[in-house]
Amino acid sequence: MTPNTVTVDGQEVKLPIYLDNHATTPLDPRVLDEMLPYFKEKFGNAASRSHQFGWEAEAAVEKAREQVARLIGATAKEIVFTSGATESDNLAIKGVAETYRDKGDHVVTCVTEHKAVLDSCKYLEKEGFRVTYLPVGKDGLINFDDLKRALDDKTILVSIMFANNEIGVLQPIAEIGKLCRERGVLFHSDAVQAIGKVPVNVEQQNIDLASITAHKLYGPKGVGALYVRRKNPRVELAAMIDGGGHERGMRSGTLNVPGIVGLGKACELCREEMAAEAARLRTLRDRLKDKIFAGLDEVYVNGSMEQRLPGNLNLSFANVEAEPLLMGINDVAVSTGSACSSAAIEPSHVLKALGAGDLTHGSIRFGIGRFNTQPEIDYVAARVVETVKRLRELSPLYEAQSEH
Ligand SMILES: Cc1ncc(COP(=O)(O)O)c(C=O)c1O
Repeated sequence: MTPNTVTVDGQEVKLPIYLDNHATTPLDPRVLDEMLPYFKEKFGNAASRSHQFGWEAEAAVEKAREQVARLIGATAKEIVFTSGATESDNLAIKGVAETYRDKGDHVVTCVTEHKAVLDSCKYLEKEGFRVTYLPVGKDGLINFDDLKRALDDKTILVSIMFANNEIGVLQPIAEIGKLCRERGVLFHSDAVQAIGKVPVNVEQQNIDLASITAHKLYGPKGVGALYVRRKNPRVELAAMIDGGGHERGMRSGTLNVPGIVGLGKACELCREEMAAEAARLRTLRDRLKDKIFAGLDEVYVNGSMEQRLPGNLNLSFANVEAEPLLMGINDVAVSTGSACSSAAIEPSHVLKALGAGDLTHGSIRFGIGRFNTQPEIDYVAARVVETVKRLRELSPLYEAQSEH
């Protein structure tokens, strides 16, 4: 046995274990196989109309457009390829704001959104728009009455994420979509973490714009898409990048053909395997949670356990700081709910929004994905339990509390 493997229940587990699938997912080898010819002999520019190389690339792009559309219940013409979800979020929010400015100056979003949405909204505020940032409850969910109250006759856009990237919480997207439709307001959802993991259907859920990225669903980095509704209502979008008029004028620039082929294949695999995969990931996630809870007291789940992505677990450990905990389990790749600001380690804006106070300092996000196995989960659970116990033994605060 090589030094970087361990045996768990008679099975070999390779270290380090990757359990950070919300940050990015490994490329599925089946996706890579599909992409490779487009780096080699099929290198054409999809916009070249005069020869076979171009036609071949264009056909591959159109196939991928169908594959992406099919996963979310859209039509191929409604898919605009981009460089990823940061670009898709910017294009959706700024593109709608610019186009519908005469109709209204108000946008509604939520405090737990990804920075790509929050910073696009901040930009709009500088441009004179009004933005309402809805709070969330302890469960991470928006309050539907808050949303109703926030809408006014100048609201042009609501942007609420489908699944949160830190706590995995699933917002009530179909209800939000229905309300927006009734009020004649466009609805954008950053659906990056949800697509391919839980059912997303732009028709049933009344979504008008949806952001997608390949690297969260076992595709390559640097490629994504924006779903833009074409009827009932038809969404008009000002471009953010001008040039050769690609993607029906909404996003100029030579298409990343191998990346797009990868995104398409990744979407097809998710459509075929999502139901079974979600059930498997939920079982692994619940096993991880049960083992940690059985081994430790004072552990708390951040966000709703019911309205949650199957592969997500976000836990706070009382009387433990996340950094030493991460160092203690350094053969496991997870992330903390904290980010280093200039002077101190600050809890993330998402955990702060839940109002968990001091507990947020000892928070870990576990993101379980397609390639994780049960022995890996058992190993991680044991490492977390043993490390938290050790750190607590060293903590005077915990000692003092335990004596009461
Ligand atoms: C919810 C959410 N939105 C947007 C992004 C940005 O996506 P990309 O890396 O494709 O720009 C991410 C990924 O970090 C995300 O989790």
